[in-house]
Amino acid sequence: MKSLTTALCALLGQSTIVLGQGYTNESEVPLYGLSPPSTHLGSGGSSARWTDAYARAQAIVAQATLEEKLNLTRGFAGQCVGNTGSIARLGVPALCFSDAPDGIRGNEFVSAFPAGIHVAATWDRDLMYDYGRALGDEYRGKGINVALGPVAGPLGRVVRGGRNWEGLSNDPYLAGAGMGNVVRGMQDAGVMANPKHWLLNEQEWRRNPGSLGESLSSNVDDRTLHELYVFPFMDGLKEGAVSVMCSYQRVNNSYGCQNSKMLNGILKTELGFEGFVLSDWGAQHSGVASANAGLDIVMPDAGYWGQNLTNAVNNGSVSTERATDMATRILAAWYYTKQDNGSFPSPGVYSNLQKHEPIDVQANHGALIREIGAAGTVLVKNVNNALPLKKPTFVYVVGYDAQVPASPWQNPSRYGGGYEVNFGWETLKGTLVTGGGSGSSAPAYVVSPFDAIRDRVVKDRGILRWDFESINPTPYVNADACLVFINAYASESFDRTSLTDEFSDRLVKNTAANCTNTIVVIHSTGIRTVDAWIDHPNVTAVLYAGLPGQESGHSIVDVLWGDVAPSGKLPFTIAKQESDYGHLLNGTVTFDAFPQQDFTEGLYIDYRAFDRDGDEPLYAFGHGLSYTTFEYKDLAVMSEEKTDTRPIPDPAVPVVQGGHPALWDVVAHVTCTVSNTGGVAAAEVAQLYVGIPSNDEFVTPVRQLRGFEKVRVEPGKMSTVTFPLTRRDLSVWDVKAQQWRLQAGSYKIAVGASSRDIKLEGSLEIAA
Ligand code: NOJ
Repeated sequence: MKSLTTALCALLGQSTIVLGQGYTNESEVPLYGLSPPSTHLGSGGSSARWTDAYARAQAIVAQATLEEKLNLTRGFAGQCVGNTGSIARLGVPALCFSDAPDGIRGNEFVSAFPAGIHVAATWDRDLMYDYGRALGDEYRGKGINVALGPVAGPLGRVVRGGRNWEGLSNDPYLAGAGMGNVVRGMQDAGVMANPKHWLLNEQEWRRNPGSLGESLSSNVDDRTLHELYVFPFMDGLKEGAVSVMCSYQRVNNSYGCQNSKMLNGILKTELGFEGFVLSDWGAQHSGVASANAGLDIVMPDAGYWGQNLTNAVNNGSVSTERATDMATRILAAWYYTKQDNGSFPSPGVYSNLQKHEPIDVQANHGALIREIGAAGTVLVKNVNNALPLKKPTFVYVVGYDAQVPASPWQNPSRYGGGYEVNFGWETLKGTLVTGGGSGSSAPAYVVSPFDAIRDRVVKDRGILRWDFESINPTPYVNADACLVFINAYASESFDRTSLTDEFSDRLVKNTAANCTNTIVVIHSTGIRTVDAWIDHPNVTAVLYAGLPGQESGHSIVDVLWGDVAPSGKLPFTIAKQESDYGHLLNGTVTFDAFPQQDFTEGLYIDYRAFDRDGDEPLYAFGHGLSYTTFEYKDLAVMSEEKTDTRPIPDPAVPVVQGGHPALWDVVAHVTCTVSNTGGVAAAEVAQLYVGIPSNDEFVTPVRQLRGFEKVRVEPGKMSTVTFPLTRRDLSVWDVKAQQWRLQAGSYKIAVGASSRDIKLEGSLEIAA
């Protein structure tokens, strides 16, 4: 019966409902997936800046013909990944869109920044902003109007998901901090940010329709949708994101780019989004339905629009107001980011085969990339102070990931930007600085770990030996340390088949068999399990070095030799073994014509699931060691006055972009002190986890990240950390009221160095 229902719904562009946390009976659930063809016209009321942008946009759009307006809503072939049409007569240029979230793909004289997951591992809001700003400066310098990032969809529900590394952690609060800061940085540089993919593109398998049938449908209940998947996008919207990309797969059986509930409903009405919705490339599957559902631009060509959309407006299938709204939203975004002021460059020419004037946009971003590279490196094991390395030293460098490949064309997705879909040994060659697919970047250069280690050893008058090829490296019994470099690759368009690989595991074990101080560095697109060798007595230290970008070698040397004390924290949970992730290890692999992916776990992904089940992870979410020690003290919890538990204090106050303004009211503060009790200056990430009161109506996770602050503390010194808690941070999504709602009762407050290393506990009382 279910498959008949879902098939019918899919045909109708409608949805089925999956029950989840917070309600038990289908009659309670609003039919939010039904995708009714409603319209939500932008108003520009969110702020003075939006009002001004709308006024200017409306003045131009009022002079445009229907054809001119719709020329802005479709893609044309051009020199960018995406290009819209222009209205030359009215001074409106064609817009240029380009990947990727971590550097301009397929271009020259641009930087390859660390990937999103690496930035998340810094847990550093300032670096997140600086990252967005530097990326934005590069995009703008190349004349690219829209940077296709940052990413919070996928969030990372599926552990082996192919694109998790593009995003900013599977925790919605950490991802939200990243989304907000990166968007603000990009747009301060005058580039339009494009948070993507809205929403629930949690796996690559069957993300698109094809010979097997329709795309996968991500089926999720309303509460989980809001508390996990919508949550990080809210931060990007609040910071003024002017565009959002809708996703390939279906949401509750209606395609992401024609799902009226997701676009008109949640994004444009509930969250007050003023900008434009852009289709993912080839993600449009209808003309009238997508226009009426809230899609504003189709890429990479006319898709179902072009002349058809003009006809649809002329015959009344799509209203003139909707067509005007599309053009107004696009131009308002352009004005909002001040791209009309005449100084915005024309898109830069790039061709491999034609001699041309280079446009160099790298500035000194190498220094920032190096800093983020080191700050996002996570030390998870360090026995007897194996690290930092002392000098002079005899270092033996082992493994395929220590060096760049013989030619970049062996791995174009990593060293030139592009798509490379292959498995096995070939993908292992060369150090991993980013993942593959549209999220890959085009490094101006790559400093390999070996290059940087060599320079350091030369400086310290040490000794260096290496072996990049053998699975069983020749022993050097006199070596002080054996550094083994391995990696774990992933790419858009396929999901991972394993979190390990046998070659790398054997390489580590063989090295450790002959070297009592074996230090493993893992460049990884995400979770990489290490059960094959983590307990080996000769494996003394392990670093998750993420996807650090082009300064990889410098970043890792900074940490290995202690010029920078490690301060990165895991943005995910490392389980003892792959099977511990249960049904979330793999995506849904199905050959059905209407494939379904039911998010039956509700809110319980990653550490929320481990906490619920009482399972012990190997390395907890938020874990990361330092070269010093910290002491946490003096917990204080203070509530403010705005703790009204009604759904929203004043529903009459209009929604602004990002949601009802009251959601962002700070309703409580938590503070504590962090002292450096060791001998080295270092940064610590203090983390705040909240247990929202659980009751029959709203069952809540044991604890959820709701604050973090990174502080640098000198030895013997102390720093005070403050965590502001907003109404949203402390609320659940009330499905019946269709609002966020504070819970009356006692909130558990826990501050610690990871989700399992809680140092201080207290409570926050919120009266009914
Ligand atoms: C498809 C990807 O899903 C999207 O993230 C990217 O921006 C576009 N292709 C354009 O390359």
